[in-house]
Amino acid sequence: MATMITLSRLPFFTILFLIVLLPSACRCADPDPLQDLCVADLKASISVNGFPCKPLQEVKSDDFFFDGLSKEGNTTNVFGTNVTSADVRVFPGLNTHGLSVNRVDFAPGGLNPPHIHPRASETSVVIEGKLLVGFVTTSHVLHSKVLKAGEMFVIPRGLVHFQLNVGKGKALFLAAFNSQEPGIVILPTTLFVSTPSIPNAVLTKAFQIDAKVISDIRSKLGS
Ligand code: GLV
Ligand code: MN
Repeated sequence: MATMITLSRLPFFTILFLIVLLPSACRCADPDPLQDLCVADLKASISVNGFPCKPLQEVKSDDFFFDGLSKEGNTTNVFGTNVTSADVRVFPGLNTHGLSVNRVDFAPGGLNPPHIHPRASETSVVIEGKLLVGFVTTSHVLHSKVLKAGEMFVIPRGLVHFQLNVGKGKALFLAAFNSQEPGIVILPTTLFVSTPSIPNAVLTKAFQIDAKVISDIRSKLGS
């Protein structure tokens, strides 16, 4: 009752602000953990939003250790890059902590093609080489920089971004995400080599190209 009386005295616009704007001020990624640890049981038969915890008595120090980013990735592919992910699917100790890391190796001239992470913002630091990095806002503004070792860039959640090796040799960077499983939508492969394929009528109209260009792109991307 007391709350209702207080609310009824608040000006209309204050109430509108509280109802509409405050929830949107939360730019949270994954939900907060409710316990110290919840090492993912990747084989659990139940399905939840994330992974259930393995029994505490089975948790070991090794569950919080991952060395999969220590090795250079194989960049012999059409883009000249390799992304190695340390996310919850391979590093179960990350479960519920809203964190993950990628290692990206670039051959000279390699491109990490335009892509989106639907569930995370990304911040990356260049370890070796020189990279042109950029993202495009929903108003079609490109923000981009050339980065060298030790320099960082941030990519807001859900925006299209890329990195191109513009140095003379190989390049390497590490990207950190505020999600245990950021997800990735790689635009060229998503659009041109999905299963089943997006109909040519959609792609020819969307990109204003003819069907021959689409089949060339598909065969170059390995479909
Ligand atoms: C880089 O943008 C990455 O997603 O690893
Ligand atoms: Mn990315």
